[in-house]
Amino acid sequence: MNRRYRKTIIAGNWKMNKTLSETRAFAEEIKAVIGKPKWCEVVLCVPFVNIPAAVRMFKECRIAIGAENCHYESAGAYTGEVTAEMLKEVGVKYVIIGHSERRQYYNETDSTVNKKVHAAIEAGLYPIVCVGESLEQRELGVTMELITYQVKAALSGVSADKMRHVVIAYEPIWAIGTGKTATAEQAAEVCEAIRAVIRKLYGARVARAVTIQYGGSMNAKNAAELLAQPDIDGGLIGGASLKVPDFMQIIESANQE
Ligand code: PGA
Repeated sequence: MNRRYRKTIIAGNWKMNKTLSETRAFAEEIKAVIGKPKWCEVVLCVPFVNIPAAVRMFKECRIAIGAENCHYESAGAYTGEVTAEMLKEVGVKYVIIGHSERRQYYNETDSTVNKKVHAAIEAGLYPIVCVGESLEQRELGVTMELITYQVKAALSGVSADKMRHVVIAYEPIWAIGTGKTATAEQAAEVCEAIRAVIRKLYGARVARAVTIQYGGSMNAKNAAELLAQPDIDGGLIGGASLKVPDFMQIIESANQE
């Protein structure tokens, strides 16, 4: 983390988990313990149907609400899809774009990721853009090339002043939901490389200000070490964001003075 230059963001990604009543129970439980996170912003990305209720439930404890996806068009015949503007209007602040599960199961490509990033910014949302290599790509030694490509493709056509709205999440696919975390060194190396790509594209000031999260089996035990890396400005957390005590410990790791 480097709080002098950029925001630390701890974001839960609930994926396809928690009904409305389970969401309410989580909100009640966390309200009792969270206090005022001083040094980081806390976000929960929840399934579409629970968003309006979640916005209300989590307002009091200052947890911002995110969506897990959006469409890139502003309206039209796209059965089952949701626009960025619809999300904005119900109080969403962040939207995860290009999560590896979307890339893997729903044909998300670098090109649709790019279009969605533009749509999100246009609607006034903050996209959390996910990039990350597979185990095969890591073993082939092409991680840096791949990440560079993914970052450049996702940000194609995004102007420097719009970069204030963009968050990048480095999520090695082999670490997602597997319990296998990247070591702090591995995560730090790639997050540093991502910042270098942004520096090349937009210059030092923009690069210094962009929040880069790590995601992939971040948990109560490993969060402090990961967040201590200068280029890791938060986490995108799946499994460990579903239980209040685990999620709280991660928030507290980011909240150390
Ligand atoms: P995980 O998921 O923390 O369960 O590995 C992270 C993510 O997919 O964002």
